[in-house]
Amino acid sequence: MTSSLATVSYIGATILFILSLGGLAHPETARRGNLFGIAGMSIAVLATVFGPQVGMGGIPWIVIALVIGAAVGLYAAKKVQMTQMPELVALMHSLVGLAACLVGFASYVDTSLVFPTAAEKTIHEVEIYVGILIGAVTFSGSLVAFAKLSGKIGGKPLLLPARHWLNLAGLILVILLGRWFLNTHSIWAGMALLLVMTLIALAFGVHMVMAIGGADMPVVVSMLNSYSGWAAAATGFMLGNDLLIVVGALVGSSGAILSYIMCRAMNRNFVSVIAGGFGSGSGAPAATADGSEPAGEVTSISAVDTADLLRDAKNIVIVPGYGMAVAQAQHVVCEIVNVLRGQGVAVRFAIHPVAGRMPGHMNVLLAEAKVPYDIVLEMDEINADFPETDVAIVIGANDIVNPAAQEDPGSPIAGMPVLEVWKARTSIVMKRSMASGYAGVDNPLFYKENNRMLFGDARKMLDEVLGALSA
Ligand code: TAP
Repeated sequence: MTSSLATVSYIGATILFILSLGGLAHPETARRGNLFGIAGMSIAVLATVFGPQVGMGGIPWIVIALVIGAAVGLYAAKKVQMTQMPELVALMHSLVGLAACLVGFASYVDTSLVFPTAAEKTIHEVEIYVGILIGAVTFSGSLVAFAKLSGKIGGKPLLLPARHWLNLAGLILVILLGRWFLNTHSIWAGMALLLVMTLIALAFGVHMVMAIGGADMPVVVSMLNSYSGWAAAATGFMLGNDLLIVVGALVGSSGAILSYIMCRAMNRNFVSVIAGGFGSGSGAPAATADGSEPAGEVTSISAVDTADLLRDAKNIVIVPGYGMAVAQAQHVVCEIVNVLRGQGVAVRFAIHPVAGRMPGHMNVLLAEAKVPYDIVLEMDEINADFPETDVAIVIGANDIVNPAAQEDPGSPIAGMPVLEVWKARTSIVMKRSMASGYAGVDNPLFYKENNRMLFGDARKMLDEVLGALSA
């Protein structure tokens, strides 16, 4: 392939990647966005493999690597559960980081590269140094994020004494080593300096993510996504590959925007997320803001009585949360919606921006169950309608419907925007126990007079509700 054809292919792939990002912004166009992404990546891979930078002798090796990589990727994608998606994404980010490090070291020892001026050589060495730095932080940070999300290590933040000073000392050391690296003329001294810097960056990645609590992990995964983009862009600079630079920048900036959106939806400050220390991990026993035991009485309801309430309602809002994903209850939810709509009941879904464990988690599940998009509304579109709602039914959600966010300034989730289900005539919360949600705080909604608790696995209980509705 000539270099001009490769350039045209890269421009085509870039356009397809931008169209892909645009498509992925909405459930209705997400499938198309995915196809654009697949087409863009196929063109990018073909143009690179058959492009001017790869000699014919390298092609068999690339094909072997492609087959192994594709087989592992296909196996992982087929095997992974929807709820395990964030950990798979974290693992993939670690590979981008590792690739950036390896390319960095390989570029440094590549004696075939000739630089016409000293300035160009220095620029190349800066690219190598920065690329390995970002790559190593992404690699080790993503591995720790994977281990935390998959429960291989605990979700509690590890807060070393003087941890901010440790990080600052690491940063200063990395800058000093960088200066030294740029001034050295010996390849062996350069390699040694690169290795020391890599070790510091790896330790920083581990330390940074270990200090972040379970509740903030999805933000961290999105942040590492951003880092992996910048690592790819740095790799693009090292290899002189324009497409990698553009795509890396797209991933880097979109990951950063997503992290910001997530922080805003959780009312968390981005800097405080990175500084760490918040969130004790999922499944923590319920506790009030002041640490006292939760108080009050809850009123239980049976599946049959729930079906009666739903049948008598004119207007229902369903709030899905993480528990719906765990129970894989989306299909039975869709069947219930169809039955109710068939009986003339108006049913809509209210989606909180951080419901579940990843952005768009609920939208994906509902789309999979073929729930019509026009009845799935965002929090801002539906929150004002709860006072006119007969029944608000909460399926495996907790933090996103917690009134303490508005009523208790001392609560760890104070200020987080929430779905105001307690304003409906009746709210029904489906969950298995009184356990807390991801943020580990008690939920006063459960004790409200107009609230009923339908205890049990969401799928099992919804099957019973469907049975009673259809009887
Ligand atoms: P959570 O607050 O985590 O609550 C989920 C509830 O589902 C739990 O209280 C659990 O109670 C219940 N549950 C679990 N398995 C169940 C099953 N099989 N059947 C029925 N119920 C089940 O979830 P949420 O309300 O969706 O809130 C999301 C949380 O994740 C927020 O704190 C949010 O800040 C955080 N977060 C999300 C994101 C993104 S991007 N989505 C990003 C960062 C943080 P039981 O154990 O009693 O059943």
